[in-house]
Amino acid sequence: MSALAPLIQLRGGAAMPAIALGTWPMNDAETADAVAAALASGYRHIDTAENYGNERGVAEGIRRSGLPREDVFITTKFNRAWHSADGVRAAAEASCARLGVDTIDLFLVHWPNPDQDRYVEAVRGLAALREEGRIRALGVSNFKPAHLARVFDAGIVPEVNQIQLDPQHTQPELQAVNRAHGIVTTAYTPLGRGGAFLADPAITAAAAAHGKTPAQVVLRWHVQQGNAAAPKSASPERQRENLDIFDFALTAAEMAAITALDTGAPLHHDADDFGH
Ligand SMILES: NC(=O)c1ccc[n+]([C@@H]2O[C@H](COP(=O)([O-])OP(=O)(O)OC[C@H]3O[C@@H](n4cnc5c(N)ncnc54)[C@H](OP(=O)(O)O)[C@@H]3O)[C@@H](O)[C@H]2O)c1
Repeated sequence: MSALAPLIQLRGGAAMPAIALGTWPMNDAETADAVAAALASGYRHIDTAENYGNERGVAEGIRRSGLPREDVFITTKFNRAWHSADGVRAAAEASCARLGVDTIDLFLVHWPNPDQDRYVEAVRGLAALREEGRIRALGVSNFKPAHLARVFDAGIVPEVNQIQLDPQHTQPELQAVNRAHGIVTTAYTPLGRGGAFLADPAITAAAAAHGKTPAQVVLRWHVQQGNAAAPKSASPERQRENLDIFDFALTAAEMAAITALDTGAPLHHDADDFGH
């Protein structure tokens, strides 16, 4: 088993492992196999969502691992239909039932969906659930600075903002807003889905210098900025590779060279136009 990922302290008191196993786009059966293998390798954080349709697979994988519930940190997310105080409560109950748990460690508004303009209500609903102990931490995903500003105006600071981040999409302004408010940034699609940048000399040179793979260098670049990351792999071998990043450090020059790969290319989806 690899060493466990270090914990990142969230502002509400919970502690979140810095590496999560991403589970999209796996179905229940694939997710159960992947989660069981990942937990056996030392993962202690699983990233899922109502929208992925695989929360039951997460439950099955945890059951097969034999680990006690409290040893596994579960992040899940809810869809736009639940953006109201009652809706968030119903979404939490449904996710808990599918996950086979009493509490969710981190519950995220999956997309702001500004067209329906109810994401502030959704975050208020999350705050009530945290107060009651139904969830341990509250957060958002795909929120831009303007969406966060309205949540701050309501007197609530999310604990996590899960966003698309990789060396070609570094989102410096959004990361700065997160940091200024003590919001932990979690990188999704952290490897760019096996993106071409893995072959860039800035990454392959660091990989050669440290005896690591390009994917390990990129994941190290994420966590060395203080961020969490949720790489997805169905392969037990690549899962282990993606967790084995805590025994080396990139130099400041290597970090800067990787950050300089940002092309300014658009994200996969613009959260002002896309959501579910
Ligand atoms: N909040 C959101 O709106 C949102 C949106 C998208 C994704 N996510 C979350 O983020 C997770 C990860 O994102 P993602 O799946 O889009 O992309 P990703 O993690 O960047 O890449 C996954 C792809 O890379 C491959 N891979 C994994 N480890 C590798 C390695 N060490 N070397 C080479 N290739 C490797 C995987 O193949 P194998 O499986 O064959 O290893 C898979 O094809 C998702 O699973 C989901 O949990 C969240």
